[in-house]
Amino acid sequence: MIKKRIALVCGAGGFIGGHLVKKLKKEGFWVRGVDLKEHEFCKSEADEFVIGDLRNLQVCRDVLDRSFDEVYQLAADMGGAGYIFTGEHDCDVMHNSGTINLNMVDLCSRLQVGKVFYSSSACIYPEYNQRDPSNPKCSENSAYPAAPDSEYGWEKLFSERMYMAYHRNRGLNVRIARFHNIFGPEGSWNNGKEKAPAALCRKVAETPNGGCIEVWGDGKQTRSFLYIDECLEAIRRLMDSDFLGPVNIGSEEMIAINDLARMVIDISGKIIEVRNIPGPTGVRGRNSDNHLILAKLDWKPSIPLRKGIEKTYAWIERQVKQAV
Ligand code: NAD
Ligand code: GDD
Repeated sequence: MIKKRIALVCGAGGFIGGHLVKKLKKEGFWVRGVDLKEHEFCKSEADEFVIGDLRNLQVCRDVLDRSFDEVYQLAADMGGAGYIFTGEHDCDVMHNSGTINLNMVDLCSRLQVGKVFYSSSACIYPEYNQRDPSNPKCSENSAYPAAPDSEYGWEKLFSERMYMAYHRNRGLNVRIARFHNIFGPEGSWNNGKEKAPAALCRKVAETPNGGCIEVWGDGKQTRSFLYIDECLEAIRRLMDSDFLGPVNIGSEEMIAINDLARMVIDISGKIIEVRNIPGPTGVRGRNSDNHLILAKLDWKPSIPLRKGIEKTYAWIERQVKQAV
């Protein structure tokens, strides 16, 4: 009889963690989830869901009380531009996420966990390579000399290095991905941590026909956005491979933020004006570079941005209606 694989998902009450639990369950894993809080938008499908604070070493010990085949470390203090680029949360972000990673990497190594996935970010890439909105550079080998534009990015880079050091010195079996703006249903949409796709969907859904939405910056800054289902597929491929990373998991369909706003407006079927206002903007341009992941994992996204935004808009429109 084949033994059931067991997985721990840290941050299972969050956006990517919540979706990952569902995927692992479909694949036949026994799953334990852990988070500071329950999932806001769905009942977790984890076999066990532990409410606990991973900054506390004893909580980490308790959730790692058996030999896990796979640990997914997604827990972090994070958010979109309105959270990480204002500077107000810098020490929380660095302390909270740093402590979680310090605890988890050491225990995973001591307890000889099968494999550990660490979720890094495109925010580790140097600001100086992302000044031209039509031609940003985010290949994996462009990370150094390091110059992330946020403390969030610096913590991610430090933790990447720490997971790699445990790999070299203690044989920890790690996989590291740098996510590029992942979006979809069941993510933050109105709590100050929402990223541009959710924020723009919310603003459009809340605005009556003939109205106006506010978009931060001049709207010419660029990004790429990856739909959640694609992200999960890439995570699982990376975990099942021998490739350690760090590797980008993102889309190469780059778009200016005002064009993203217009796409959402078009999907809504309303006539809405876009007004650009000052706000936290982050780097001028960013796009995933997928050469490495294509070569190593034969993976590339298959869902066009618009399809993912249509699904996300429909979900956020329902949240907005339920909230009134
Ligand atoms: P999220 O905020 O929805 O999920 C993170 C979860 O971690 C939250 O549910 C939060 O409660 C939990 N958490 C925070 N501190 C904790 C603690 N001390 N103990 C236990 N749980 C704690 O974020 P997400 O979008 O699902 O992101 C998951 C991971 O991917 C994060 O590490 C994030 O930095 C990384 N990432 C995400 C994106 C993206 O676009 N979503 C991009 C780059 C990197
Ligand atoms: N959040 C948000 N809300 N962003 C807006 C808004 C708005 O109402 N209006 C315009 N924007 C602009 C921001 O100013 C920024 O220039 C761009 O949209 C993208 O913002 P976000 O989606 O919030 O964040 P990001 O792409 O700069 O960074 C995100 O992605 C990283 C990985 O690529 C964050 O989620 C990071 O935490 C993540 O690591």
